[in-house]
Amino acid sequence: MAKGTPPVSLLAIPLNSSSPAPLFRQLYDGLRGSILAGSLKPGARLPASRTLADDLGVSRNTVTSAYDQLLAEGYLEGKIGSGTYVTRTLPEDALLVRRGKARGGGTASRPGRTSRRGELLATTPAWVVRGSAEPRPFRPGVPAMDTLPLDTWATLAARHWRRSAGDLLGYGDPAGYRPLREAIAAHVGTARGVVCEAGQVVIVAGTQQAIDLATRLLLDPGDPAWMEDPGFVGARGALIGAGARLVPVPVDRDGLVVSAGVSRCPEARLAYVTPSHQYPLGVAMNLARRLELLGWASQADAWILEDDYDSEFRYTGRPLASLQGLDRQGRVVYMGTFSKVLFPALRLSYLVAPPSLVDAFVSALALAGGPPPTHPQAVLADFFTEGHFLRHIRRMRALYAERQEALVCAAKAELGGLLDIVPSETGLQVMGWLSAGIDDRAASQWADTAGVVAPPLSSYLLEPTSRQGLLLGYAAHSVSQIRQGVRKLAGALHKGTSSS
Ligand SMILES: Cc1ncc(COP(=O)(O)O)c(C=O)c1O
Repeated sequence: MAKGTPPVSLLAIPLNSSSPAPLFRQLYDGLRGSILAGSLKPGARLPASRTLADDLGVSRNTVTSAYDQLLAEGYLEGKIGSGTYVTRTLPEDALLVRRGKARGGGTASRPGRTSRRGELLATTPAWVVRGSAEPRPFRPGVPAMDTLPLDTWATLAARHWRRSAGDLLGYGDPAGYRPLREAIAAHVGTARGVVCEAGQVVIVAGTQQAIDLATRLLLDPGDPAWMEDPGFVGARGALIGAGARLVPVPVDRDGLVVSAGVSRCPEARLAYVTPSHQYPLGVAMNLARRLELLGWASQADAWILEDDYDSEFRYTGRPLASLQGLDRQGRVVYMGTFSKVLFPALRLSYLVAPPSLVDAFVSALALAGGPPPTHPQAVLADFFTEGHFLRHIRRMRALYAERQEALVCAAKAELGGLLDIVPSETGLQVMGWLSAGIDDRAASQWADTAGVVAPPLSSYLLEPTSRQGLLLGYAAHSVSQIRQGVRKLAGALHKGTSSS
């Protein structure tokens, strides 16, 4: 990507000044389509914004807005002013599903034309973890599977099948199985300080579905939305898929920097946050920031999506109560999942809607096919009410604390001078900071070659920062697998840094 490379010509991008779509959106769509179709190749240099504006006969603002959005979404890299290039590797490239690329790696042809919305959905980078029964260390976000109380689960499941009546075999409640909604309302009330009634709980097939429904319900195409930066790629994809304009908001040791969001885009319609355990940095949002965020939402008439994905596993201190519990104005949509507490294939999670949005969510869910199958919901309801859920959490908390400690100790012994792991008080993964001069994408690649999964911090970022890190999940691996993984990672980093 030499600076001297001549820029590509973009004169073929069609712009129609009488179209209702704003020119910057047309230019953005044209550039993004060319990148995804491969006609704009990775590393290609784009013309300077002033030159392109002159060539296309549009204002420079039109070009910088389109470039900014593509930079924010990771399609472009570099800096306006010093050269803008097509990203060499698209964000989270290991996890992406892209148009024309079938799961098996072949090409899928799509006959006919989709709608503009369909085109957006089909080309939005989606967050997909390739399913493998035995995740390699250190895949983040995966719980232990070998310690699940599957015998208990099987007993409860069999009992329900034996006595299944109409309530389990019909379409069921459109918001989800009522006894499960009651059990969840009681649990989040006591464990997470969520203030709600069972009627506000809606069962969905994963937090990803909750975020998707929420973005489609609450945003119009082009609406600005705050996205934590770095942040969860699944949420970023859902926002882009809903046509939102992403506004990256930085995160520091106290969580989302609300003042930065306010100065960048006070009129945003929605903010996506992980306040109890920021993904991927692992920090918690302090009380002052929580109140500031709620204050902004109230003033801006905006919504907050609170993703509380793994805070059940707090190892030290008291669990932090939810943001939703502080909300007096009904602005927060709270989301929790059983993918981490139990297992991801269950595809069961829930959202707690503010009273004003319950009917809208139930209707949107019905249009999307309704809640997940009732039988596993009924099994999960019994799992709660018969005490298995809390017992399982208690066991896993002790196990995960031990695994995290094993990772931190092994890293201290083997990775000194290369990677500094910050212990986390909760969750299933930790951030490791690379020593100065080590590029995280390169480090992740070296680790992958050595058989270790360690996603780079850069793949979660919308705007580049100087800090380089690797995200390491520990929950799904035994202490000996963790030690072995750390040895492999150390070998890979030593080899990579000495040869680069
Ligand atoms: C921050 C965050 N939210 C939500 C999820 C996914 O939840 P679900 O499996 O319920 O879709 C994940 C999964 O890794 C996550 O990291």
